[in-house]
Amino acid sequence: MAKSRLIRALLWLLLIPAVVILGLGYWLFLQPPPPIPNLNYEEWWGDESLKGKQDTSVRPFNITFSDGMIKDLKSRLKNHVPFRLPLEGVGFEYGFNTKMIDEWTTYWAVKYPFRERERFLNQYPQFKTNIQGLDVHFIRVKPQVKNKEVIPLLLLHGWPGSVREFYEAIPLLTAVTKERDYAIEVIVPSLPGYGFSDPASRPGLGPAQMAVIMRNLMHRLGHQKFYIQGGDWGSQISNIMTVMFPKEILGSHINFGFVPSLKAMVLQYFISFYPTLFMEASLVERLEYNKLVLVELGYYHLQSTKPDTIGVCLTDSPVGLLAYILEKSVAATNLHNVKLEDGGMRSWRFSKDQILDNLMIYWTGNSITTSIRIYAESASKAHTKLGFHLLKSYVPTWVAQAKYEIYYHPPVVLRMKYDNLVNVSVLNEGGHFLAWELPKVFSEDVLNAIAAFKKLQKSKDEL
Ligand SMILES: *[C@@H]1O[C@H](CO)[C@@H](O)[C@H](O)[C@H]1NC(C)=O
Ligand SMILES: *[C@@H]1O[C@H](CO)[C@@H](O)[C@H](O)[C@H]1NC(C)=O
Repeated sequence: MAKSRLIRALLWLLLIPAVVILGLGYWLFLQPPPPIPNLNYEEWWGDESLKGKQDTSVRPFNITFSDGMIKDLKSRLKNHVPFRLPLEGVGFEYGFNTKMIDEWTTYWAVKYPFRERERFLNQYPQFKTNIQGLDVHFIRVKPQVKNKEVIPLLLLHGWPGSVREFYEAIPLLTAVTKERDYAIEVIVPSLPGYGFSDPASRPGLGPAQMAVIMRNLMHRLGHQKFYIQGGDWGSQISNIMTVMFPKEILGSHINFGFVPSLKAMVLQYFISFYPTLFMEASLVERLEYNKLVLVELGYYHLQSTKPDTIGVCLTDSPVGLLAYILEKSVAATNLHNVKLEDGGMRSWRFSKDQILDNLMIYWTGNSITTSIRIYAESASKAHTKLGFHLLKSYVPTWVAQAKYEIYYHPPVVLRMKYDNLVNVSVLNEGGHFLAWELPKVFSEDVLNAIAAFKKLQKSKDEL
């Protein structure tokens, strides 16, 4: 009697974990995906009064630093109140280290060559066109070639970046070479609400709705089929575009391969117990690195809930804007540097001018508030209900993984999202702003990806 009870108890003990494992397995791997949501491709985001009066022409545009704006900006930079010193022995753990403020504000107010940088920012042809009620700003560089196919590539930036991230990479990507029988045209838009693109007039313009706007922009320019490259929000928007428009997106290169589903997190959690069973041993340290980002994510909650309040502070103060964006840039470049007094900024590959160009785009466009609303829209019930994060992408995808990217997924997790993962290129340098920090490495990787996508397409066509 006692013996059979023991056996029964043992069986139950086995049964419970077996049911848990099978249930988890079903949930992770066998559950049918939700349907692809239908979005209104003509949804109007602009002022209601402009409906029906839309100017759909493509108009040339230049960035202008007006004298009045420069004068006001300099005065705000020079007249900031004194800041409290950081705690003893602290780097960036409590936020921007105020010992570093004056070095930057003085440079911005006194040495930043406004007119020269204005010319620099206007070196590529820029345009605006109205999509769904919003004027969308973009750079378009089209190589002039004969007897070569020109293929379009949409480059999507993120936050706290801008089109500025791609300036160094643009000539490398659009270079015409003998080896390639094609040339690349780049289209680099400011996301709605960023830089010189209009923000939405009403709630609801999240990454999925931006994906529609970006696709409509490409159609406006005559591109029914194209490649995409994206990092940060750009990669999330790219992911959605590949799900929504699988026949139009020829391939997607992303340098932020982040799978934002609970499933992916659960799988990654289990992998972390015996990582070498699932991934290369040399990359296990990147799982450790992932842990460093957790204490850096307070901004995410803030911007997902009350973007407009922090927006007031940053719109009114260029010093605040500088501290806020540079603190994020420290973490995004290398999370270890958060411990350093200078945040590693003095050994950055970025020059001060490069960094300030990006801030100038936010400041001149008065766009910090509207840029961070994407966090709130993305976190909204309406947006998560669409379920794009649960849907697989079947478009050929190439993921570049910089060494100091803020989050690392091993390929087995990436495959949960990317059914057609052409390659994962593991880089031994660089951070979250790959195009900006390492334009050569970035461009080569993108060009390799496009060559691989084209080869795949060719072999498919021959079948
Ligand atoms: C932009 O600037 C260039 C160079 O100064 C000039 O040739 C062009 O006309 C300007 N375009 C617009 C739309 O202002
Ligand atoms: C994948 O990327 C790596 C690193 O960039 C490269 O060495 C390799 O050739 C690529 N593989 C393919 C199939 O393109």
